[in-house]
Amino acid sequence: MKGLILSGGKGTRLRPLTFTSAKQLIPLANKPVLFRVIQAIRDAGIEEIGIVIAPETGAEIKSVVGDGSRWGARITYILQDEPRGLAHAVKISRDFLGDSRFVMFLGDNCIEGGIHRLIEQYAASDYNSQIVLTRVADPRQYGVAVLRPDGSIERLVEKPKDPPSDLALVGIYMFDKHVFEAVEAIQPSWRNELEITDAIQWLVTHGYRVYPYVHTGWWVDTGKREDMLEANALVLEELTPRCEGEVDARSTVDSRVTLERGARVVNSVVRGPTIIGENTQIINSYIGPFTSIDRDCMIENAEIERSIVLEGCRIEHIPARIHDSLIGRRSIITHAATKPNGYRLLLGDYSQAGLL
Ligand code: DAU
Repeated sequence: MKGLILSGGKGTRLRPLTFTSAKQLIPLANKPVLFRVIQAIRDAGIEEIGIVIAPETGAEIKSVVGDGSRWGARITYILQDEPRGLAHAVKISRDFLGDSRFVMFLGDNCIEGGIHRLIEQYAASDYNSQIVLTRVADPRQYGVAVLRPDGSIERLVEKPKDPPSDLALVGIYMFDKHVFEAVEAIQPSWRNELEITDAIQWLVTHGYRVYPYVHTGWWVDTGKREDMLEANALVLEELTPRCEGEVDARSTVDSRVTLERGARVVNSVVRGPTIIGENTQIINSYIGPFTSIDRDCMIENAEIERSIVLEGCRIEHIPARIHDSLIGRRSIITHAATKPNGYRLLLGDYSQAGLL
């Protein structure tokens, strides 16, 4: 089997971070979402992996991910000129995929427990396609499936206003070569994309065998800030803590905190699950729980809770607690000591700030 990761798209819901970086590279517990996806595919025994990239963010993804040797995988990059839909991404990957069966994994999805069990199940079956489903409270923002009494897929709808079931399509799909007939046959949807949901529906309508795999652990599509924070909390919960940094005698750091190499905690309280990145300094501050501070940050006289802070930030002398925040690389947040009193902001396009 081969693996196909979709890491194109524009990531508009995570602007302004996605103006300068791919959304799949935003870290959860200081590791890009995309790395978790590659690792999950590799752990399922698949070595040959294609990554679909966009012109705007492809170079960054290539330079961060490389040739895959770090995971013992061989990575081929496939350029998609425009985000014309998930089924379009399959269409342009035909040369890479050949006649192999493959797993397609959306590069912004994060799932508990890996995918080896479902890969084994599909490999042992004669299904033409198997799709991962999970029960969700509000299915309207996802593809939604209806099952037949024998458990096979009867019908799929993309982002329905009135969902016919609570079974959402998780961004993991397995296919054989018949999917290429489907992606050639379907037409663009109302949002002008070739929908993978329509391609799977085509397989069902044309008598191919399409079955679900119902996932019962957690799953997060990290498309928005709140989803990112939720996924970060879940990944931090799974992390085995380690201390490679320094904590002074005046600090309290609990057992669920990870300190990466060169991290330093001085006169501070850090509550886990939390990770403090390489060479980051935490001074006279309160951090956590559910917080990831990436490498080379300086946090002094500040309180940060349930947040993700990317590399190289400086956050100093902040009178109120920062919480539920996603702070981009090399941001500076400081107390303005000079008059007039008030907020002095330099925000990128599409930034969001919640002020007191
Ligand atoms: O996350 C699960 C959902 O993913 C499913 O329930 C839906 O059925 C499915 O259509 C998809 O919906 P989204 O609207 O959330 O997909 P999104 O546009 O966010 O794209 C998912 C990933 O695929 C993301 O990493 C970007 C990448 N992508 C997207 C498009 C449209 C590409 O590589 N190329 C594309 O053309």
